[in-house]
Amino acid sequence: MRRPTSARVLGLVLLTLGVTPGVAAAQRPALDFDTFRTRVQPIFTARRDGLQTCLTCHGGKVGTRFRLEPLPEGASDWSVEAARKNFDSARGLVKPGAPMESRLLTHPLDRAAGGDSFHGGGKHWATQTDAEWQTLAAWVRGPQAAANMRTSAVPAGRAVRIIQTNAAGDGAHLIDPATNLVTQVLTGVDIPHGVTASPDGARMYLTNEVRHTLDVVDMPSLAVRARIPLSGRPNNVAISRDGRKVYVGIAQAPGALDVIDTEALKNVKTVPVKGSIHNVYVTPDGRWAVAGSIPEKTISIVDTATDTLTRTIPLSAGIRPMAFTTKPDGSTDRIIVQLSDFHGFVTVDFATGAETARIEHPAIEGEHPHRDGLQGAPAHGLAVSPDGTRLWSTSKVYGYAYVHSLPDLKEVGRVFVGQHPEWLTFTPDGRFVYVAAAGDNTVFVVNAATMKEIARVPVGHVPKRNATAILRVP
Ligand code: HEC
Repeated sequence: MRRPTSARVLGLVLLTLGVTPGVAAAQRPALDFDTFRTRVQPIFTARRDGLQTCLTCHGGKVGTRFRLEPLPEGASDWSVEAARKNFDSARGLVKPGAPMESRLLTHPLDRAAGGDSFHGGGKHWATQTDAEWQTLAAWVRGPQAAANMRTSAVPAGRAVRIIQTNAAGDGAHLIDPATNLVTQVLTGVDIPHGVTASPDGARMYLTNEVRHTLDVVDMPSLAVRARIPLSGRPNNVAISRDGRKVYVGIAQAPGALDVIDTEALKNVKTVPVKGSIHNVYVTPDGRWAVAGSIPEKTISIVDTATDTLTRTIPLSAGIRPMAFTTKPDGSTDRIIVQLSDFHGFVTVDFATGAETARIEHPAIEGEHPHRDGLQGAPAHGLAVSPDGTRLWSTSKVYGYAYVHSLPDLKEVGRVFVGQHPEWLTFTPDGRFVYVAAAGDNTVFVVNAATMKEIARVPVGHVPKRNATAILRVP
C-alpha cells in the first residue's frame, strides 16, 4: 500500500512533534520479546541483494541510536542476554501499534512505499508487503499480530493459499491470493464441513460429514493420507498452535470434542462438553479450545494443556460462529459470537462470561432481504483482522459484510459479498478478505482497507467454511 505524500509529510511532522495520531498511550500493545528474538532478529543478519547486513553497520561500525550487539565469531544467533540489549535498542526506535511511525521500519523502507527520505545504510525493502517488513510490522502491532505472523512469513516451497471447502461437493478449491486463480482442486472428501492446516503447511485436515472422519490430506500431492474415525458426525475443526493436536467438534448428540494426535494420526480423547458442537476454535494464545453448541446455547471452554472442560458460558440463543479479541499480553479479551436467529453479533467478556454488547446489523436500503434457507443463522461468518482493529461480520439476509472498528464496535463500512455469505478469512497481511458466497458458488475478494470488491473466484458447490494457510505447493 502506498501512502500519499501529504499523509507522509503529516506523519513526519507529527513524528517530529512527538505526537502519535490514533493510538492512545494506554491502548498501545506491548512489544513481545520472544517474537523479537526469534522472528525479528534474523532480519538483522540477513543478506539482501547488493546490500550489507544491518549488523555489519549497526554492530558498532556506525554511531546511531540503533545498536546491535556483536556476534561472536562463527555464531549465527545472539544469546538471550545480547538479544535483550538488541531489544532495548530497537524498542527505542518503534512506536507500539504504529509501524508507519516507527523509524526502524520507515528508515530502511523505500520512499515510494512510504519510507522516509534517506537511510545511510540504503533502502532494504521495496514494499510494505515484503515478508521481512511484515514481520517487523507484526511485532510492532503487538501480540495479536505477532501470533498471526506465525502464518505470514512464507518459507521456500510454500505459498499463501485460501482453502475454500465446498459444502455440497467433495473437496476444496485452493486459491492463490497473489493472482486470485484456483491453483489446485481437492476431491475425495465428501461434504467437508471444516478445514485447517498444519503449521508447517504439509497437511490439510478436513472433517468429512459422510464418513464421520477427519481426513488428513498431504500437501502438495493432495493425497488423502488417512481418514481418522470420529466419535460421531463432525462439524468444524481447529488446530493447536504447535500443530500436534486437532480438535473436532462433534455435532451428533450428545456432542463432544474429539482430540486427534497428529503424529500418531489417532483419535486419542473424546472430551465431554455441553451439547452437540457446531464450531470450535483455539484462542490466539493457544490456551483454550472454545466450542459452541446450538441446541444447548452454551460455549464450552476446554484447557488445551489438559484437554478437559474447565467452564461453560450460557448465552441467550444457539452459538454460531465466534471470533476473539486479545489483550496486549496476547490473552483472550472478548469472544464475539453470532447467535441463532439474531442478525448481528454479541460480545462476551472472556473472564466473566458476561454479555457486554449486542450489535444488530441494520437493514440495507434498496436490498431485498432473503429469509429462505437461513438455517436459523441470519448472520454467519465472523473474522477479526490480523492487526486486531476491525471485525467483519457477514449477513445472509442482505449478502453484505458489515465492518466494525475494534475495540469500540462502531460500524465503519459495508460491502456486498454475494448470495448467502457463510464464512470469511483474511490474508496473513490483512490486506484482503475472502468471503464464501454459498449461493453463488463463488468467493468474493475484498480489499480490506477500501472495503471494495476486487475479484470473484468461481469455486465448487455451496462454498462455506474457508481458511488461510501457508501450504506446500507443487
Ligand atoms: C551500510 C551501513 C548500514 C546498513 C547496512 C544499515 N544501516 Fe541503518 N544506518 C546507517 C547509518 C550510517 C545511519 C545514520 C544515518 C541515517 O540516519 O540514515 C543509519 C541509521 C539507521 C536508523 C536510525 C537510527 C537513529 O539514530 O535514529 C535505523 C532505525 C536504522 N539505521 C536501521 C537499519 C536497519 C533495520 C538495517 C537493516 C535492514 C540497517 N539500518 C542497515 C548505516 C547502515
